[in-house]
Amino acid sequence: MGLDLYAKVEPYLDFEEEIYTLHREFLRFVMTKDLDNIIDIGCGQGYFLENLKVNKKKYFGIDLSAEQIKVCQEKNLNAKAIDLKDVKEKFDCATAIFDVLNYIPKKDLKAFILTTNIVLNQGAYFIFDVNSYFGFDEVAQGCITIDLEDRFIAIDANFEDNKLQTDITLFEKQKNGLFSKQSDSIIQEYHTKEFLIKLLEDTGFEIKEIKEFNLHTDETADKLIFICKKIA
Ligand SMILES: C[S@@+](CC[C@H](N)C(=O)[O-])C[C@H]1O[C@@H](n2cnc3c(N)ncnc32)[C@H](O)[C@@H]1O
Repeated sequence: MGLDLYAKVEPYLDFEEEIYTLHREFLRFVMTKDLDNIIDIGCGQGYFLENLKVNKKKYFGIDLSAEQIKVCQEKNLNAKAIDLKDVKEKFDCATAIFDVLNYIPKKDLKAFILTTNIVLNQGAYFIFDVNSYFGFDEVAQGCITIDLEDRFIAIDANFEDNKLQTDITLFEKQKNGLFSKQSDSIIQEYHTKEFLIKLLEDTGFEIKEIKEFNLHTDETADKLIFICKKIA
């Protein structure tokens, strides 16, 4: 999947305000509950890790994209490009922010949540957000192009059969003045609230709250935020 290409174009997508708004919601929870020792799964370029670091929290970030982790390491953040299965430490909170769980195919989601449970201490929190159907169908779909002096980015996202396929093309100017071209796709899956509730309950989590969240729109909620606690 094109996670590394996504990492290369992400800084140009103008998402800063949305990322800030969503991270503020997660950070508020961490601070209110006085949580520490946090693993951020799918930490991307480490924006949430920076918040944790500023607030003197013990943290660790992981991401499947080596490109994303390169950016974290350039910022001196504690992050590694490893699979959740290979994490050996235990944490008192896990976060997965900005639709990370939508990147996990339906068939692999139970194993992913179970592995999250394994890296948590008893009573630890697991907090994540997913896109609602409205978020996929009405917000995420569409095309954009970004035309800069040294690069050109084209993104085309289509939502069909509960899957969002985002095709990314990046043209980058080389030293010789010619442009190189890279193309790849990422797939995100819509997971219903009921499916997530069942998986979480089956894997030892108690659901404390499911919040509807309006990130990109004032109309219907485009995200759901799940707050869960490890009880088994
Ligand atoms: C939309 S970005 C969000 C990044 C970050 N959480 C934030 O809020 O800025 C989703 C991230 O999830 C990562 N990702 C996707 N599947 C993953 C998996 N199975 N394990 C770890 N990271 C994953 C991607 O590489 C990408 O960096």
